[in-house]
Amino acid sequence: MRAAIALSFALGILAPAVAAAQVSGEAVYQQRCAVCHDSGNSRVPPRGELKKLSVSRILRVLDFGEMQNVASKLRQDEREAVASYLGVPGDSGEVHAKAYCADRTVTLTGHSKTEWNGWSSKPTNTRFQPGDAAGLTPSQVQRLKLKWAYGFDGDIIAFAQPTILNGHLFVGSASGLVQALNAESGCVQWAFQAIGPVRSAILAVALGDKHALLFGDTVGWFYSVEAETGHLLWKKRAEPHEATRLTAAPLVYQDTVFIPVASWEETRSTNPDYACCTFRGSVVALRIKDGSEVWKTYMIAEKAKKTSEHEWGPSGAAVWATPTLDNKRGVIYVTTGDNYSDVATPLSDAVLALEVSTGKIIWSKQTTPGDVWNTLCSTKGDCPGPDYDYGSSAILEKLNDGRDVLLAGQKSGIVYALDPDHKGAILWQTRVGLGGTLGGVEWGMASDGRQVYAATSDLVRTQSTSADPLNLNPQIVDPKIGGGLTALRIATGEKVWFAPPILCGPTAKPGCSPAQPQAVTAIPGVVFSGSIDGHLRAYSAEDGKVLWDFDTVREYQTVNGVRATGGSLNGPGAVVVGGMLYVNSGYARQGTIPGNVLLAFSIDGK
Ligand code: HEC
Repeated sequence: MRAAIALSFALGILAPAVAAAQVSGEAVYQQRCAVCHDSGNSRVPPRGELKKLSVSRILRVLDFGEMQNVASKLRQDEREAVASYLGVPGDSGEVHAKAYCADRTVTLTGHSKTEWNGWSSKPTNTRFQPGDAAGLTPSQVQRLKLKWAYGFDGDIIAFAQPTILNGHLFVGSASGLVQALNAESGCVQWAFQAIGPVRSAILAVALGDKHALLFGDTVGWFYSVEAETGHLLWKKRAEPHEATRLTAAPLVYQDTVFIPVASWEETRSTNPDYACCTFRGSVVALRIKDGSEVWKTYMIAEKAKKTSEHEWGPSGAAVWATPTLDNKRGVIYVTTGDNYSDVATPLSDAVLALEVSTGKIIWSKQTTPGDVWNTLCSTKGDCPGPDYDYGSSAILEKLNDGRDVLLAGQKSGIVYALDPDHKGAILWQTRVGLGGTLGGVEWGMASDGRQVYAATSDLVRTQSTSADPLNLNPQIVDPKIGGGLTALRIATGEKVWFAPPILCGPTAKPGCSPAQPQAVTAIPGVVFSGSIDGHLRAYSAEDGKVLWDFDTVREYQTVNGVRATGGSLNGPGAVVVGGMLYVNSGYARQGTIPGNVLLAFSIDGK
């Protein structure tokens, strides 16, 4: 079966406001691509070769592939125009016939004890899988062996956390292919082609006697797909801004889905022709049954205005992470990123409580005021902001004395405990890293109710001194800086233990770093944390000792016959369900190690 793709995506995904101006693909090519692709250099595929690729493949290379450094300067309509100008119609995200299961029925019985549905095992975002659902004890973790590997064809990044329900695994990919696999064996049950890359984890909800899978893509579309068949139920743009990017899994409460909305616009600032910036982060609440809007709350109250010849503002305060449900108080907690342009606003780099039924902001706690930063700052370096976004969800936990506490980890390297009963007043704060653009806590912490586990990124890159104009990776990753895992006592914030980073060896691949940006996952007695060096490690929750270590950087024989390699672990974390552990490996961004594989481990590989 070919995954169905509508070529209409070349036109369909634009918001009306930006679609009005027709962009010439040839002009974009001449201006942005010809310098390399018409150069005759043997390292660059010539225009004739590009013209053999499918439109969707080229768009994928621009959005999330080798050309992302070049393409980050282009607007979405410019990317689409140049891809349509170069490419042939058709699709590249195909599933080979032999990858399919003999039995392709997907049956969900609703809630099962052994599941991991969406970003976290629970909507409080603890990323803790209880013992009966995990099915792994600390000593069994030490016996984990690879059971199967699945390759994402043509991808160089594997960044979507899988969801596991009733023995089925649902996962997105950089090609935009969303697949249902048999969680035991990795054979394919169905495939659905999204418009853009799908990095968001997938959330399944009951819908009548069937189920809907809810997820977003990185060009701004949000989908409801029938879990049993892979058929589209509805799709909707979460926000009209053309740079919209949905990175996080949604949250569901009763009949409403809450979608966190982020953007690429920060990187557009490196384009000298781009007037930065106008995007405003938001949360959108839609009815699950048909996608109609219930409410939408922007993280910046007013629309951007032209502030100078080349600047618009205010902008930013993107929402990168899954909101957190607080049933008792009838609110969801949202974390926000920095401002992209002047002026700074009060809800950037903040934790907010939004009323579930109306989206009204009940309280907010800004931890880094005045953080105005965009990608141009990396080169010109005179911006007010330190780029201390929240990239991860807040965790709602209960203390022994019955009080609730909200835990939030920031790129600043600080973990906060906030009081949900006193407008987010800070109960304690503890530093776990130096912080920075790719520093501190990036994708998420885990908590077992007693301790919160914060992995530190602190990834450091330096500018390449290579004079080669074709050098596609102008950033070099420092193999000696970053990483570490800290356990903090939830009640007090004091450090219980610190597992130091494990530095890259002399034979490590370029792009190796000890940084640990990947989201952390916990089960009773064990904490899983992945690193840019490609290692997934299991740490003892008691003392931080490494119990198990698997180097994912290697080639794999995959169950679907696709050539696949592992690489850096970044973004979503490991998922543990019913005695198995799943993780995606490969992250060709930021100069780190590419890869395209989904790995499944079980006790002794059985
Ligand atoms: C700085 C030089 C440079 C610029 C500018 C550039 N490219 Fe590339 N491009 C390359 C190189 C080198 C490769 C090969 C990368 C590799 O295989 O490692 C490549 C690869 C590609 C590929 C992948 C081909 C394949 O086999 O999958 C596509 C598609 C592509 N470029 C499209 C574009 C488009 C479209 C633009 C303009 C928007 C562009 N490139 C601008 C240097 C460039």
